Amino acid sequence: MLSVHGRTRSQMSKVPADWDAIAVVRQLRDKLAPHTLVVGNGDVLSRQQGMDLATKHKLDGVMIGRGIFQDPYVFAEKSPWPDMSPLQKLDLYRQQVELFAATWQHNERPIQTLNKFCKIYINGFDDAKELREELMLATSTTELLSIMKRQVENVTARMY
Ligand SMILES: Cc1cc2nc3c(=O)[nH]c(=O)nc-3n(C[C@H](O)[C@H](O)[C@H](O)COP(=O)(O)O)c2cc1C
Repeated sequence: MLSVHGRTRSQMSKVPADWDAIAVVRQLRDKLAPHTLVVGNGDVLSRQQGMDLATKHKLDGVMIGRGIFQDPYVFAEKSPWPDMSPLQKLDLYRQQVELFAATWQHNERPIQTLNKFCKIYINGFDDAKELREELMLATSTTELLSIMKRQVENVTARMY
Protein backbone atom coordinates (compact mmCIF):
# COMPACT_ATOMS: atom_id res chain seq x y z
CA MET A 1 0.00 0.00 0.00
CA LEU A 2 1.27 3.39 -0.97
CA SER A 3 0.11 6.63 0.68
CA VAL A 4 0.64 9.59 -1.63
CA HIS A 5 0.71 13.12 -0.30
CA GLY A 6 -0.14 15.66 -3.02
CA ARG A 7 2.66 18.14 -2.42
CA THR A 8 6.39 18.26 -3.02
CA ARG A 9 8.83 18.58 -0.16
CA SER A 10 9.71 22.18 -1.06
CA GLN A 11 6.05 23.20 -1.24
CA MET A 12 5.68 22.16 2.40
CA SER A 13 2.11 23.08 3.46
CA LYS A 14 2.08 26.40 1.61
CA VAL A 15 -0.07 25.32 -1.34
CA PRO A 16 -3.15 23.09 -1.51
CA ALA A 17 -2.52 19.38 -2.04
CA ASP A 18 -2.65 18.43 -5.74
CA TRP A 19 -5.07 15.53 -6.06
CA ASP A 20 -4.61 15.39 -9.83
CA ALA A 21 -0.97 14.49 -9.15
CA ILE A 22 -2.17 11.74 -6.80
CA ALA A 23 -4.39 10.49 -9.63
CA VAL A 24 -1.34 10.33 -11.92
CA VAL A 25 0.34 8.05 -9.39
CA ARG A 26 -2.80 5.91 -9.35
CA GLN A 27 -2.69 5.68 -13.15
CA LEU A 28 0.96 4.59 -13.00
CA ARG A 29 -0.04 2.01 -10.43
CA ASP A 30 -2.70 0.67 -12.79
CA LYS A 31 -0.04 0.10 -15.43
CA LEU A 32 2.95 -0.97 -13.38
CA ALA A 33 1.76 -2.56 -10.13
CA PRO A 34 -1.98 -3.28 -10.23
CA HIS A 35 -1.91 -5.08 -6.85
CA THR A 36 -0.57 -2.06 -4.97
CA LEU A 37 -3.22 -0.07 -3.10
CA VAL A 38 -3.02 3.71 -3.42
CA VAL A 39 -4.17 6.00 -0.60
CA GLY A 40 -4.50 9.75 -1.18
CA ASN A 41 -3.57 12.38 1.41
CA GLY A 42 -3.71 16.13 1.84
CA ASP A 43 -6.19 18.72 3.14
CA VAL A 44 -9.07 16.32 3.76
CA LEU A 45 -11.28 17.70 6.53
CA SER A 46 -14.27 15.37 6.47
CA ARG A 47 -15.09 11.75 5.77
CA GLN A 48 -17.43 12.72 2.94
CA GLN A 49 -14.81 14.91 1.29
CA GLY A 50 -12.37 11.98 1.49
CA MET A 51 -14.91 9.55 0.03
CA ASP A 52 -15.65 11.97 -2.82
CA LEU A 53 -11.96 12.40 -3.63
CA ALA A 54 -11.38 8.64 -3.51
CA THR A 55 -14.28 8.05 -5.90
CA LYS A 56 -13.31 10.87 -8.23
CA HIS A 57 -9.69 9.71 -8.57
CA LYS A 58 -10.40 5.96 -8.26
CA LEU A 59 -8.26 5.56 -5.14
CA ASP A 60 -8.32 2.69 -2.65
CA GLY A 61 -8.47 4.94 0.39
CA VAL A 62 -7.77 8.28 1.96
CA MET A 63 -5.50 9.27 4.83
CA ILE A 64 -6.48 12.13 7.14
CA GLY A 65 -3.90 14.00 9.23
CA ARG A 66 -4.72 17.45 10.53
CA GLY A 67 -8.45 16.92 10.01
CA ILE A 68 -8.40 15.08 13.34
CA PHE A 69 -7.50 18.38 15.04
CA GLN A 70 -10.80 19.88 13.90
CA ASP A 71 -12.96 16.86 14.60
CA PRO A 72 -11.65 13.84 16.51
CA TYR A 73 -14.56 11.84 15.03
CA VAL A 74 -13.61 12.79 11.48
CA PHE A 75 -13.65 9.12 10.42
CA ALA A 76 -17.16 8.48 11.76
CA GLU A 77 -20.08 8.21 9.38
CA LYS A 78 -21.94 10.72 11.49
CA SER A 79 -19.67 12.72 13.77
CA PRO A 80 -21.21 13.78 17.11
CA TRP A 81 -18.58 16.51 17.45
CA PRO A 82 -20.61 19.53 16.22
CA ASP A 83 -23.30 18.80 18.83
CA MET A 84 -21.02 18.14 21.79
CA SER A 85 -21.03 20.53 24.75
CA PRO A 86 -17.84 22.06 26.20
CA LEU A 87 -18.18 19.71 29.21
CA GLN A 88 -18.40 16.65 26.97
CA LYS A 89 -15.32 17.82 25.06
CA LEU A 90 -13.48 18.42 28.33
CA ASP A 91 -14.39 14.88 29.37
CA LEU A 92 -12.89 13.53 26.14
CA TYR A 93 -9.66 15.36 26.88
CA ARG A 94 -9.72 13.86 30.37
CA GLN A 95 -9.93 10.42 28.74
CA GLN A 96 -6.98 11.22 26.49
CA VAL A 97 -4.92 12.42 29.47
CA GLU A 98 -5.79 9.26 31.44
CA LEU A 99 -4.80 7.07 28.49
CA PHE A 100 -1.58 9.04 28.16
CA ALA A 101 -0.83 8.52 31.87
CA ALA A 102 -1.59 4.80 31.64
CA THR A 103 0.50 4.35 28.50
CA TRP A 104 3.57 6.35 29.55
CA GLN A 105 3.85 5.44 33.21
CA HIS A 106 7.55 6.21 33.48
CA ASN A 107 7.66 9.62 31.78
CA GLU A 108 8.72 8.14 28.44
CA ARG A 109 6.86 11.02 26.79
CA PRO A 110 7.02 14.62 28.03
CA ILE A 111 3.73 16.01 29.32
CA GLN A 112 3.99 18.80 26.71
CA THR A 113 3.14 16.17 24.06
CA LEU A 114 -0.46 16.61 25.17
CA ASN A 115 -0.48 20.35 24.55
CA LYS A 116 -0.99 20.06 20.81
CA PHE A 117 -4.22 18.19 21.50
CA CYS A 118 -5.49 20.56 24.18
CA LYS A 119 -6.88 23.07 21.70
CA ILE A 120 -9.01 20.43 19.98
CA TYR A 121 -11.08 19.93 23.10
CA ILE A 122 -10.77 23.18 25.05
CA ASN A 123 -12.29 25.51 22.53
CA GLY A 124 -15.37 27.53 21.69
CA PHE A 125 -16.55 28.77 25.10
CA ASP A 126 -15.89 31.76 27.39
CA ASP A 127 -12.50 31.57 29.10
CA ALA A 128 -11.38 28.61 26.95
CA LYS A 129 -8.10 30.39 26.23
CA GLU A 130 -7.37 30.97 29.92
CA LEU A 131 -8.15 27.35 30.75
CA ARG A 132 -5.92 26.13 27.91
CA GLU A 133 -3.06 28.29 29.13
CA GLU A 134 -3.43 26.86 32.63
CA LEU A 135 -3.60 23.29 31.33
CA MET A 136 -0.56 23.78 29.12
CA LEU A 137 1.54 24.88 32.08
CA ALA A 138 0.72 21.74 34.08
CA THR A 139 3.76 19.63 34.89
CA SER A 140 2.07 16.27 35.48
CA THR A 141 -1.01 14.36 34.35
CA THR A 142 -2.21 14.41 37.98
CA GLU A 143 -2.13 18.20 37.92
CA LEU A 144 -3.88 18.27 34.53
CA LEU A 145 -6.65 16.01 35.80
CA SER A 146 -7.15 18.07 38.94
CA ILE A 147 -7.45 21.32 36.94
CA MET A 148 -10.05 19.63 34.72
CA LYS A 149 -11.94 18.30 37.73
CA ARG A 150 -12.06 21.80 39.22
CA GLN A 151 -13.33 23.20 35.92
CA VAL A 152 -16.12 20.59 35.77
CA GLU A 153 -17.11 21.45 39.35
CA ASN A 154 -17.13 25.19 38.59
CA VAL A 155 -19.21 24.80 35.44
CA THR A 156 -21.62 22.38 37.10
CA ALA A 157 -22.03 24.75 40.08
CA ARG A 158 -22.89 27.59 37.68
CA MET A 159 -25.52 25.43 35.97
CA TYR A 160 -27.50 24.89 39.17
C1 LIG B 1 1.11 16.04 14.02
C2 LIG B 1 1.56 15.57 12.65
C3 LIG B 1 2.61 14.67 12.58
C4 LIG B 1 3.04 14.20 11.35
N1 LIG B 1 4.05 13.30 11.31
C5 LIG B 1 4.45 12.80 10.13
C6 LIG B 1 5.47 11.81 10.08
O1 LIG B 1 6.02 11.40 11.09
N2 LIG B 1 5.82 11.32 8.86
C7 LIG B 1 5.23 11.75 7.71
O2 LIG B 1 5.58 11.27 6.63
N3 LIG B 1 4.27 12.69 7.73
C8 LIG B 1 3.87 13.22 8.91
N4 LIG B 1 2.87 14.17 8.94
C9 LIG B 1 2.29 14.62 7.67
C10 LIG B 1 1.01 13.83 7.42
O3 LIG B 1 1.38 12.48 7.19
C11 LIG B 1 0.25 14.35 6.22
O4 LIG B 1 0.95 14.09 5.04
C12 LIG B 1 -0.01 15.83 6.28
O5 LIG B 1 -0.47 16.20 7.56
C13 LIG B 1 -1.02 16.23 5.20
O6 LIG B 1 -2.27 15.62 5.41
P1 LIG B 1 -3.48 16.44 6.07
O7 LIG B 1 -3.74 17.61 5.17
O8 LIG B 1 -4.62 15.46 6.13
O9 LIG B 1 -3.01 16.87 7.42
C14 LIG B 1 2.43 14.66 10.15
C15 LIG B 1 1.38 15.57 10.25
C16 LIG B 1 0.95 16.02 11.47
C17 LIG B 1 -0.19 17.02 11.50
